[in-house]
Amino acid sequence: MSLEDKLLKIAKALGTDEVVDIESAHISGISYVNIGEAGLEYIKDLERHRSHVRVFTTCNPGALDLDVLSAQDPQQEIVRTLRSLGVSTVLTCTPYEFVRVRPRRYYAWAESSAAAYIASVHDAYCEKFPGPLALLCALCGRAPRIGKMLLENRIPRVLVKLRTGRLTYVRAGILGKYLAETFGEAVPYIENASEIFHSKECVKSFLAAYVTFSNNVFVVLEGITPRSDYYKNIADFEDKVTIDPTDISKEYREVISSDKVELAKRRSLIVVGCPHLSYEATVRCVEALSGLGAKCLVFTSRFVKSRLGTLSRGNVDILADTCLFVSYLVNYVENNFDVVLTNSVKQAHYLERVLKGVEVRILDFNRLEEAISESQ
Ligand code: F3S
Repeated sequence: MSLEDKLLKIAKALGTDEVVDIESAHISGISYVNIGEAGLEYIKDLERHRSHVRVFTTCNPGALDLDVLSAQDPQQEIVRTLRSLGVSTVLTCTPYEFVRVRPRRYYAWAESSAAAYIASVHDAYCEKFPGPLALLCALCGRAPRIGKMLLENRIPRVLVKLRTGRLTYVRAGILGKYLAETFGEAVPYIENASEIFHSKECVKSFLAAYVTFSNNVFVVLEGITPRSDYYKNIADFEDKVTIDPTDISKEYREVISSDKVELAKRRSLIVVGCPHLSYEATVRCVEALSGLGAKCLVFTSRFVKSRLGTLSRGNVDILADTCLFVSYLVNYVENNFDVVLTNSVKQAHYLERVLKGVEVRILDFNRLEEAISESQ
């Protein structure tokens, strides 16, 4: 069966006969930790058949920073094989930092936080695709038109008024979780979003957390989403909600710990950069974390790291190409730390699942919050 036929078959299984041209694709699940030998063999088989992507295609983080991996490591072989399929191997979950995204065009992106970002910030037509489907779409240059790739599924159903004032990075993430858990898949319309989320990093934090707890990738952010006034006109609000600072604090109290106490008492690891940080945020965060009495890992893309040179300073290491959740570092963390502190609601959720015997807490640290919340 040809790849095209496979795609049509999958489209049918997803409830559509319509397959549309895409502008770009983004593949997830390329870490050796996740796909192992079977996954590597699968992409090598594609290579043997001389398969090649038909649209610009990027991929998610892998098992470790390629700078520190031996040439024989299977992750290097995964990256080499992807490259021979035509995939751009800047291994990051924030490809939108360097890939052009146009409104109302179709995309097959498999990283949920990235799909939510381009859907909500660029008005791109996309869904949360599984990694293998995004790869198939990349090879065909087309994707099944489903879910939020259809205008009728992008109609806002919940009007959200925020009386919280400007949200910091952590509080933006908590709001994302709160909205997703309260309203499920109903598309929210957030009034005055450009006032509330005053930096790109805060939007990233909000959307990454939101889409972790909801299957919906599209949120209308008034003043940020292109043509948000159009979406307000077609809205059919079934719910209207006003969120006060106390609503956020209620959630906040459940997950926040005082970092000072944790740092003083126990072997703590601070993890920042989920989703991967922009250039400016990386520089500011390294500054804010330097000199703390704890080991810190800052995750970003190779694109950013190559501009920085070696910025690792004392207690802070900058890592590209990877993310703790899908990395070889999980054992190292379990063996060397009692507690992991992160400012990412998404990261905390996933690390709780993979780390055994290590407590995962949300980090509330003013200096870091100021650094990241002001970064573009
Ligand atoms: Fe990126 Fe890993 Fe977070 S892929 S969004 S840093 S869980």
